[in-house]
Amino acid sequence: MPETTPFWLAGRPATGDGELAVTHPYDGRPVGAVSVPTDEQVEQAVAAADAVRAQAAALPLHVRAEALAHVARRLGERAAEIARLITAENGKPLLWARGEVSRAISTFRFAAEETRRWSGRTQRLDTDPAAEGRMAYVSRVPHGPVLAITPFNFPLNLTAHKVAPAVAVGAPVIVKPAPATPLSALLLGEILAETGLPEGMFSVLPVPNERASALVEDPRLPVVSFTGSGPVGWMIKDLVPRKHVTLELGGNAAVVVCADADLDHAAARIGLFSNYQAGQSCIAVQRVYVAREAYESFVPRLVSAVEGLVTGDPWDEATQVGPLISEDAARRVESWVAEAVDGGAKVLTGGTREGASFAPTVLADVPADARVSCEEVFGPVLLVQPFDTLDEAFALVNDSRYGLQAGVFTRSLDVAFRANRELEVGGVVIGDVPSYRADQMPYGGVKESGVGREGLRSAMEDFTYEKVMVLTGLRL
Ligand code: SIN
Repeated sequence: MPETTPFWLAGRPATGDGELAVTHPYDGRPVGAVSVPTDEQVEQAVAAADAVRAQAAALPLHVRAEALAHVARRLGERAAEIARLITAENGKPLLWARGEVSRAISTFRFAAEETRRWSGRTQRLDTDPAAEGRMAYVSRVPHGPVLAITPFNFPLNLTAHKVAPAVAVGAPVIVKPAPATPLSALLLGEILAETGLPEGMFSVLPVPNERASALVEDPRLPVVSFTGSGPVGWMIKDLVPRKHVTLELGGNAAVVVCADADLDHAAARIGLFSNYQAGQSCIAVQRVYVAREAYESFVPRLVSAVEGLVTGDPWDEATQVGPLISEDAARRVESWVAEAVDGGAKVLTGGTREGASFAPTVLADVPADARVSCEEVFGPVLLVQPFDTLDEAFALVNDSRYGLQAGVFTRSLDVAFRANRELEVGGVVIGDVPSYRADQMPYGGVKESGVGREGLRSAMEDFTYEKVMVLTGLRL
């Protein structure tokens, strides 16, 4: 049994008066324990972030960029160890844990690069006679310390997506990791502590969810960046309507397979990316709409791709689909599938649960109001349905409370641009699944999928506001 991991309070390791146990989702084996800060220690972390905010905003760009590059380098040096830590606490197969570490390295590297490009701009104002001799200097200024509330499904990279842009713009950051997976964020704290960033610039506080609202409401943390479930996200926004709140929430991502698509390729990609991380990604494929003329030949290909996935122990190098985060989560998925079947859905493959693992599942004839269709499953389940016209397909995609990303398998540029115009989502992926995310691109949703954008440049803009300085009496 490993020792208790300390948390990070204003850049230093600290222990509190409680402990949080971390267990491996596949077999419930203990993975470790983390120390939980007291209310007083949380107060110290917030006070330190507040105290350092002016110094943080004034840090030279090369200091921020070097700190970010250091984190990228160290994540690379420790990649194998970190991937094992992610698998241990989250249960995702090593395959995906390694991918997550590589992505986190890129996230910090992109942030370092964007930091060196983080310049203000000038704007001549003498376009009007009244402003002759005047010029504006426009820069972006951090709103202030960022509260980063991070989820269990990408415990390293979705923490990176909040920490890296905060450091890049010169904003202190307090991370509250998901209680199931605090170890990756704490390890990130260990690497951040090597950078020499000023005291107070970061804290990682594994407080239970019930204590998070005190942080959310604290006026010294003017930015709240949250990734997680819709109900919690919107509750945060309602709780602090005057704060700058960024929400990366769920979705029931849809993909459209047109008749001109390469059906084998589409089936392989959809089968894999409905089930990667056991479907626990906000952009995992959930709804598959297939052109009627291709439906009969596509469905067996899809079922075969899903049945070909290697399921089981996440430590096994070959495993592609491991357990969900907990047995409760798998039971919920099981009950949603049962509800769909009661309503007339057919199970084409899967549908069974063993402990925290749920078999990759394909459903057909799912009623439109079943939860596996209209809610976010966050499990390895997809539904497949034919469509007759593109109008119908796009209407089905848009018939959702959510709008994060959508995919369209087509070779037609016209259909691609039409999808981009008509689909009500934050991102349209042509020729691939909606699950595709490049860490440097804008990422975020519309409708109930959230507000604001991640992606390094976008998050840096999100954490800052434009400030203008007008210079007068100039000879331009
Ligand atoms: C998410 O689940 O929102 C993140 C998906 C990703 O970063 O690939």
